[in-house]
Amino acid sequence: MSRPLPNAAFDLTLDLLRDPYGFIGRHCDRLGSDGFRTRIALRPAICLRGAEAAAFFYDGERFGRAKAMPPVTVRLLQDKGSVQTLNGAAHRHRKAMFLDLATAPDRVAALEQAFGRAWDAAQERWLAAGEARLLPEVNLVLARATVDWMGFDWAERGGRRFSRDMDAMVANAAGMGPRSWAALMRRRRAERAVRRQILAIRQGRHPAAENAPARKLAFFRDETGELLAPEVAAVEALNLLRPTLAIGRFIVDAAQALERDPALRAALVSDPSLTEGFAEEVRRRARYFPLIGGTALHDLDWRGTPIRKGSWVLLALWGTSNDPRAIAGPERIDPTRAHSWREQGHQVIPQGAGLSAETHRCPGEWITVALMTQATTRLLRLSYRVGPAAMKSPPFRYPPSPRDGFQMRDLRLR
Ligand code: HEM
Repeated sequence: MSRPLPNAAFDLTLDLLRDPYGFIGRHCDRLGSDGFRTRIALRPAICLRGAEAAAFFYDGERFGRAKAMPPVTVRLLQDKGSVQTLNGAAHRHRKAMFLDLATAPDRVAALEQAFGRAWDAAQERWLAAGEARLLPEVNLVLARATVDWMGFDWAERGGRRFSRDMDAMVANAAGMGPRSWAALMRRRRAERAVRRQILAIRQGRHPAAENAPARKLAFFRDETGELLAPEVAAVEALNLLRPTLAIGRFIVDAAQALERDPALRAALVSDPSLTEGFAEEVRRRARYFPLIGGTALHDLDWRGTPIRKGSWVLLALWGTSNDPRAIAGPERIDPTRAHSWREQGHQVIPQGAGLSAETHRCPGEWITVALMTQATTRLLRLSYRVGPAAMKSPPFRYPPSPRDGFQMRDLRLR
């Protein structure tokens, strides 16, 4: 039954900042609706949640991303000229390249192998020291693996700095002020380094292998047959490198979930086939992207409410993936729930909804789940002890991050 969207309050900016993950669901519950109107930073906004809203938001090219997210977030995460800023035929053409790079089975397998090699090398160091801080260490493992996989070339020191630069973009994407400005400077440095390598590949001065993602990207032609401008090619290279490194946050979430629930750990040890389901559940619960913004590309209608072209709409990603009306006991991590990114559905949508070839849904879900599954398997082979600071994040840090980086002590093989 259609009824107009209720008004929640004049402006809910502070409420959003206090709890970005529960924000849309809480007001929807209060108003008995799947959406409401309000203002964020005085700008009129329509907030929606649930699978039907996700289908409305993602399918059928109704929403673009221009002026849809704070400028610092856009600059740190996606940036000018990226696939996320495109619509229509240009978007589909560029997206096909991303899907080829991130979902061709041989490429995913190559990244998994690179991750395994980098983890094994790092683990030797951790075992010799008897301790490790998981977040920075796994970031380094992911950085090494992704740089190798892409076909770029970084010396050890450059790799460490690159790993810190990428993490700074992820850690400060939701913020403003000095930390975010510093992250923007780090981003510019990373862009320059990547741009130099793209140009070197184009000029035949770089040994990237024929099938390497970096080479594919360097020689990719847009829908008009033109090579990408070097700045845009660098932005897109970072769009593969940075989010792959961000999987480190999910791996730390997985480690925390194992710590919180010894019975769950034991279940995974006795039945390793549950590990991928565990990774899916950790992803569903993870406090990473609370919501996604879009601006209406045409005049639209949501269950009888007109939405004018240019209107700003916010869709709850976390709130939809954790909606108790659709997921029983959403706070429970249950690896036997049968949801998977492979369905390309609209209910469990931590990385966007719908068909990734046609919408802005993330092309990196297979990589994300594959590397989380592999990391969980490897964590289960280790014995360690953590303190309370590994399980807590400072307030108002989005995404959350353990106070001590998840410090593992008395670390040894099981
Ligand atoms: C760390 C876990 C990840 C999370 C939480 C995540 C989240 C997301 C979300 C929510 C979107 C949808 C944005 C929208 O609707 O506008 C997205 C898009 C995107 N993601 Fe991911 N992602 C992750 C990993 C990855 C990986 C591993 C890659 C690369 C291999 C990747 C590359 C991209 C790209 C290129 C887009 C833009 C797609 C488009 O506009 O069509 N992401 N991601």
